[in-house]
Amino acid sequence: MADIRNTFVGIKSPNPFWLASAPPTDKAYNVERAFKAGWGGVVWKTLGEEGPPIVNVNGPRYGAIWGADRRLLGLNNIELITDRDLQTNLREMKQVKKNWPDRALVASIMVPCEEASWKAILPLVEETECDGIELNFGCPHGMSERGMGAAVGQVPEYIEMVARWCKQYTRMPVIVKLTPNITDIRYPARAANKGGADAVSLINTISSIVSVDLDTFSPEPSIDGKGSHGGYCGPAVKPIALNMVAEIARDPQTRGLPISGIGGVTTWRDAAEFLALGAGNVQVCTAAMTYGFKIVQEMIAGLENWMDEKGHRSLDDVIGRATPNVTDWQYLNLNYVAKARIDQELCIKCGRCHIACEDTSHQAITSMVEGVRHFEVMEDECVGCNLCVNVCPVEGCIDMVPLAPGVLDQRTGRPVQPTYANWTQHPNNPTARAAAATQVAEPAE
Ligand SMILES: Cc1cc2nc3c(=O)[nH]c(=O)nc-3n(C[C@H](O)[C@H](O)[C@H](O)COP(=O)(O)O)c2cc1C
Ligand code: SF4
Ligand code: SF4
Repeated sequence: MADIRNTFVGIKSPNPFWLASAPPTDKAYNVERAFKAGWGGVVWKTLGEEGPPIVNVNGPRYGAIWGADRRLLGLNNIELITDRDLQTNLREMKQVKKNWPDRALVASIMVPCEEASWKAILPLVEETECDGIELNFGCPHGMSERGMGAAVGQVPEYIEMVARWCKQYTRMPVIVKLTPNITDIRYPARAANKGGADAVSLINTISSIVSVDLDTFSPEPSIDGKGSHGGYCGPAVKPIALNMVAEIARDPQTRGLPISGIGGVTTWRDAAEFLALGAGNVQVCTAAMTYGFKIVQEMIAGLENWMDEKGHRSLDDVIGRATPNVTDWQYLNLNYVAKARIDQELCIKCGRCHIACEDTSHQAITSMVEGVRHFEVMEDECVGCNLCVNVCPVEGCIDMVPLAPGVLDQRTGRPVQPTYANWTQHPNNPTARAAAATQVAEPAE
């Protein structure tokens, strides 16, 4: 059986599945049940400064996007950090850690961007004997208007400064949670690294308005006729999160910096993808909020089964395996040629592939042949874009089949080249032409 025990910045957990800081982790009652269900660790709902607790809205705080089957695809929220008293949270955290010494317990913290505030809270958190801290520089609503959360995460200099304070005032590992509401995720990650952070975690939620009520003209969730932007998460954000994880994992300036992957993890497969792109573990929020704590059991079993099947003995066999395969567009092999192929046995003749290809791609799929509905790819027109694969309602009905080197590409009339050639070398690339001209102009030795 594959070993899925995890060590992340020295924090041990029986599996790589942690609950992200959010409602599932906001009190001992929840966290105890989460651990019973099998979660490897939790990041406690973000703690704020000592004093009067945060005030949340008293109406709806969620908006959502659903698929046609009403399955939740994206969740939007306007909730703030914990609205419970700091001491109550700390007391419960201490007790939970005592009850579950083998599970990871990390404290998420958000206090004003002042040295005194961080210096004051860190010893209190350390007292709980939790395993580490996560700095919430990600929350994009409510707290950011008060100069915290994403307001810090959008300024690399602040990230570096606060990370440094935390490293100075605590012995606990410091994880910096990043906001995706930024143009280039590498800059805040580099700043966290420079400030001495032990790891980064990402993504927090994406600034968003999910819908507008067309009767009241209020954005949703609507509080007495008005709405404000919220934070978007769930399966819909996974592609954004995966890209950001990969960007950090392959950036020479942050290579090796541990990453906790967050954003839309719903199945073991999502988790495996995050790990493959360089995450050392994953955190989950929306999936637990949608399906309950027991979903972790499927995640654990699925990951173990897949690892057994593929012969991966431990998580180290998986972590970062896909990172070297992430490249820039200009390095993709332009000599690689694939064509769509329709399995006539599986085809239900709905015609969607034909319409998509005919109206918006390359007019490469038949609709009628000899007076009957028949959908077949015309290889001499197919550019291999795979739009048809993505619109076909029958899984596996259309495949992309690579042409072997030497085989004639009927569209171009040229045989497929066996060699790798990318845009930097292509004759249509003006830079490549200039480089070639320079080489010719150089005197022979
Ligand atoms: C209702 C709600 C409250 C959240 N509160 C926090 C929070 O207090 N601190 C934090 O760092 N992230 C918070 N998050 C963000 C999550 O921890 C996580 O980064 C995000 O939801 C993406 O993961 P997911 O797609 O699995 O939900 C919250 C998310 C939701 C839905
Ligand atoms: S791969 Fe693209 S071009 Fe080829 S048949 Fe499908 S949609 Fe048309
Ligand atoms: S979309 Fe798929 S099922 Fe529908 S006609 Fe095309 S190949 Fe057949």
